[in-house]
Parts: sequence; C-alpha cells; structure tokens
Amino acid sequence: MTTKTTERVALVTGGSAGLGLALTRALAERGWRVITDGRGAGRFKEAELPDGVTVLVGDLTDAEHRDRLLAEVTAHGRLDLLVHNASTLGPLPMRPLAEVDVADLQQVWRTNVGGPLVLTSTLLPWLRTADGVLLSISSDAAVNHYEGWGLYGASKAALDHLTLTCAAETGLTAYAVDPGDMRTAMHQDAFPGEDISDRPLPETVVPRLLALLDARPGSGRYRAADVGGEA
Ligand SMILES: NC(=O)c1ccc[n+]([C@@H]2O[C@H](COP(=O)([O-])OP(=O)(O)OC[C@H]3O[C@@H](n4cnc5c(N)ncnc54)[C@H](OP(=O)(O)O)[C@@H]3O)[C@@H](O)[C@H]2O)c1
Repeated sequence: MTTKTTERVALVTGGSAGLGLALTRALAERGWRVITDGRGAGRFKEAELPDGVTVLVGDLTDAEHRDRLLAEVTAHGRLDLLVHNASTLGPLPMRPLAEVDVADLQQVWRTNVGGPLVLTSTLLPWLRTADGVLLSISSDAAVNHYEGWGLYGASKAALDHLTLTCAAETGLTAYAVDPGDMRTAMHQDAFPGEDISDRPLPETVVPRLLALLDARPGSGRYRAADVGGEA
C-alpha cells in the first residue's frame, strides 16, 4: 500500500449527530482528514461539516456501503484511526429481555456488533500499515445491568470483547471507551419525555477521547471520565 496523504486519516461512523459529529469536527480542526457516514443525508446538511471531511451517506449494516467506505479509505491512501461510534438502542421504548424477539436481536447485533466487526476486518490492513488505533464507543450498560437495557448492553459488551480481542490477536492498539451520559438524540430516545438538559454535551467528551489518542496507553477498556483532557 502506498501513502497518498501525509495528513492523518480517521473513519468515524455516525458523524452526522451527537458524539460522532463532535469528534469528526474536532479531528478536522486538528488537521485530520475524516471519513464519516450516517443514514440521513439531511442531518449532514444541517451539520455543515468543515473542509477535510468526506461524507458517505449509508448504513453501516449494508455491505455495499461498507465497500464504499473501504474505497474511500483506499483513495485517501491511509487509515490512522477507526472509530465505531454509530449505534442503535434497539426497539423503542426500550424493553425487558422477555419482550425482545429475534428480529430485534438481529437488528441490534447487525448495527452494534456485526457491522463494526466486518468493517474492522476489512480495514485492518490499512490500520496495521499506519500503526493506527481502533476505538469502539462503549457504554456503562456493557458492564452494568439496567432494566430494559439488556439487549443494547449485551451488544456493547460484545463490541468491547471483539475490539479488545482484535488487539490481542493483531497487536493493534484498541480501546473500548465508555463516554458516559451525553445530551444527544439517542439519550433522549432512552429517556422519552425526560428533561435531559443536565447531561453533558458530547463536545465535553471529545477532549477526553483526544487525550486518550495522544497518550496512547495500552489497549483496554476506559471510562472517558477517567482520562485526562480539557472537558
Ligand atoms: N448518549 C449517551 O448518553 C451515550 C451513553 C453511552 C454510550 N453512548 C454511545 O455513544 C455513541 C454515540 O451516541 P450518540 O448519543 O452520539 O448517538 P446519536 O446522537 O443518536 O448519533 C448517532 C449517529 O450514528 C448514526 N447512525 C446510527 N445508525 C447508523 C447506521 N446503521 N449506519 C450509519 N450511521 C448510523 C446516526 O445518523 P443516522 O441516524 O442518520 O444514521 C448519527 O449520526 C454510540 O455508540 C452510543 O451507544 C451514548
């Protein structure tokens, strides 16, 4: 593989809203080239992303879309950071496991586990060439057991496991990071009708993620709140 750009390149899934949008903006402001995606084209128009960001509208569970992501990475000629950020809570309102069916399980697994796993495998050669970092956005629900959060939490536990097993198998630096509660559309979906204005904005988590990338400690599971950074 030949390097076509000297700037660092990141692929951040789900960059049209919430944490993915805040991280995409921050990386671009730091001079990174960022490739990002999301299913809704309209959300990207509202987001007004800066120069240096390439948007591919599509669903990460769609193999053809993932092929387009690979083609974009190939066109950039390098990949220094892969962020599995896009995610789903599953059927809303969130419900106890006894009310979850196989179709719900498949939908959540495809988005939160299967898509990221296949994308990681596809992009692994590029990450290894650049000595890059794999960053999966996890949740406290991956390690705690909240009523109604079992399906989502199990998918995040699986994502953590795959991410860190990938590090063990390949030597790649990989992190599963619990960002903590954030004031986003997903959080509002989880707490319908509740005033979530006391939750921190996703922009407050981004400096912690950047601090982690800068410090580059060993692979592992981290809480963003425990990582240094101007929040
Ligand atoms: N918010 C919290 O309190 C909280 C707490 C712990 C962990 N997290 C985790 O933090 C991450 C970011 O969450 P958030 O709250 O920022 O979510 P968000 O505001 O709902 O944003 C999610 C982003 O992902 C995109 N997306 C969703 N499904 C996709 C798919 N199948 N293919 C491509 N893009 C997709 C969305 O755009 P489209 O819908 O247009 O596709 C959007 O850009 C997630 O991994 C979440 O599980 C969040």
